[in-house]
Order: sequence, then structure tokens, then C-alpha cells
Amino acid sequence: MNADPISALPNPSACQWLDELATAVLVTDAQLRLIAVNSAAEVLLGLSRDRVVGGYIGHWLQLDRNLSNQLQAALNDRQSVSLRGRCLHPLRAPEFLADLMISPLQSEHSEDRLLLELTAIDRHQRITREDQLRQQQAITRAVTRGLAHEIKNPLGGLRGAAQLLASELDDPSLREYTGIIIREADRLRSLVDRMLGPSNLPRREPVNVHEVMEHVRGLVSVQLPLGLRITSDYDPSIPQVLVDRDMLVQALLNLVQNAIQALGDHGEIRLMSRILRQYTISGQRHRLVARLRVRDNGPGIPEEIRERIFFPMVTGRASGTGLGLPIAQSLMQLNNGLIECRSRPGRTDFDVLLPLENTP
Ligand SMILES: Nc1ncnc2c1ncn2[C@@H]1O[C@H](COP(=O)(O)OP(=O)(O)OP(=O)(O)O)[C@@H](O)[C@H]1O
Ligand SMILES: [Mg+2]
Repeated sequence: MNADPISALPNPSACQWLDELATAVLVTDAQLRLIAVNSAAEVLLGLSRDRVVGGYIGHWLQLDRNLSNQLQAALNDRQSVSLRGRCLHPLRAPEFLADLMISPLQSEHSEDRLLLELTAIDRHQRITREDQLRQQQAITRAVTRGLAHEIKNPLGGLRGAAQLLASELDDPSLREYTGIIIREADRLRSLVDRMLGPSNLPRREPVNVHEVMEHVRGLVSVQLPLGLRITSDYDPSIPQVLVDRDMLVQALLNLVQNAIQALGDHGEIRLMSRILRQYTISGQRHRLVARLRVRDNGPGIPEEIRERIFFPMVTGRASGTGLGLPIAQSLMQLNNGLIECRSRPGRTDFDVLLPLENTP
């Protein structure tokens, strides 16, 4: 009996039984070039096996030197290695935490091969966290709605009374005071309206997301400091997305404005787009999802607010109202989408995720 069933098969990429496994399985040759991947691995890599087979595993998984060396050492020493909780950064899919089992496959008839089994451990955590976040946001929205109602009614009365008073006052210096009351009442009303979030239902239509991203770039370009660049990296194969165009513009604008504010005078904002496969949004698994990313190389989100940035009134800026992100999140949720964020000093990514099903 052959010790290596995979090398015994005429075409390793056709190992259909591998596709039945929930664990991602990748097989490489002795030069760490992929020769077989199963369906679960395609999902984690965000690419089809036709694309990746023949390529260096370190390229598609963006392995750091340490991990590449460990793979090579497993091959050289013919020793299995098990690694727990390693962060992997596939070129075409979101990064994830995984447990790795690395096993060399020896064969008398052909060169050695390497078998990698990856069990993603943070997809589940991400989905659980997203569920909790959604529940907390629903509670916050309900409380905000109740509070807003209580504030808006007396505010209307207050403003009306100030207007009446102003019309009775002859002394212009006194009218200045009623002017302040009216202006402040208006400011408070618009703040409450913003807190309430979008009131209209989305009008979804097929939208070219790159045209929208370029539109947003155009909107902010006029007020951009000289040392600040906006670059782009789009996947032209993304089809039109069914989304309310104005809502998408507003959401992306809020993200780009935050990036500009975080960067100050210098830095780079990168607008990116990719297609993700088999991605879960709000508990629903989608075959294809468009990921629109706003990346900046600024200082990152302050750690003390990182977990709460999608809640209203959470801000790290002296002049911030802390409403830009919750509004953007609500707008995208109304379109069956989601905004996710990852941030560390030097790299902050805000991802708008929109399902691609039912697109024309
Ligand atoms: N790209 C980013 N880099 C660093 N910090 C960020 C970034 N985006 C958001 N933040 C942090 O998240 C906070 C919340 O952002 P959010 O847009 O909700 O409110 P805001 O910008 O403070 O006020 P506004 O209501 O005017 O948008 C910001 O104050 C900032 O501290
Ligand atoms: Mg903002």
C-alpha cells in the first residue's frame, strides 16, 4: 500500500473526496507550490483552485518568513508540526485565525509533498461578535428613538415660542438672545435627526461601485491637504451591485472623511475593491460579496474606543459627534450589507460588504 494516497492519484487537483471536508486542505510540492486545494481552502483563500494551483503557497497566503521557514523545515526534517492560533493573510480574502496541521507526505516514487490542514477559528468568532453587535445596536436604536421623540416635541414648542417672542421685541440686542435660542434649537434638532439615522427605505438599483468610489474621491478632493493622497486599487470584474446609490455615497463619504481626519496633513488613503466568496453577513451566507475597502495609513483607532466605534456618540475627536460610523453602518445594513473594521497603528481598514446575489 502506498504511504501517500494523494501522490498515487493521477491528478491530485481532482481529489473530490477532499471537497467533502469542512477543514481547508492544501497540498504543495517540495518547492511549496500548490498542487491541490479542496473547496474549504478555496473559500479561505478567496480564489478558485484553477487560479492557485501551480502558485507558491506563500504568495496566496502571504506567509511571513517565520511560517515559510516552518513549512520548509517540516519538509526537510520530515516532521509534522501543529501550530495553534496563527493569523493568516490570504491575498484575496479576509485575514483569519487558524489552527494549522502541517504534515510531510513521503513517497518512494515521487518527491515529497506537504499537506496543510487549516481550521479557521475566527470566522465563528466574527459571526458571534457580529450577532452581539447587531443586538446591542438594535437596543441602542430603540432607546435613541424614544429619547429623540421626547426631545423633538418640546423643542418645537421652544423654537416657536422664541420666534413669537422675537416678533414682540423691539430691542435688537434682545432679539439676539431669541436668535440664539432658535439656532441652538435647530442644531439640536438636526443632531437628533442624525442620531435617528436614515428614515427612508433604500431605493435599490444596479450600481457601478467603482463609479461611486470615484465620485466620493472627487467630493473630498477639493478639501484635501497637499500631503494627503487618495489612490485606488479596484477589481474590475466586480459586477453592478444592487444598492441605494445615495446611501452608499454617504456611507463611503463618512469613512473617507474619518480617514482624512485621522491622517491630518500627511498620508495615504487607498480605495480598494474585491470579491469575496462564501461570506456570512448578518447570519446569512452569501456566495459572492463585494468588499469595498477604505484603507489609511494613519495612527489607527484609539484602543479605548475601538470596540465601540459603531455606537452613537462614541468619538475620539474633540469636535466629533460620534455619529458618522453608526449612520454609515445603518445605511449599509438597510441594504443587507455590513461595515467591518480592523485597525492598528499604520493601517486601518473599513470594509463595506455588500451581497452580490440578485445583481443583474
Ligand atoms: N480611519 C480612522 N482612523 C482612526 N480613527 C478613526 C478612523 N475612523 C474613525 N475613527 C475613530 O472613530 C471615532 C468615531 O467615528 P465617527 O465617524 O462615528 O464619529 P466622528 O468622526 O468622531 O464624528 P462625526 O459624527 O462628525 O463623524 C472617531 O472620532 C475616531 O476617533
Ligand atoms: Mg466621522
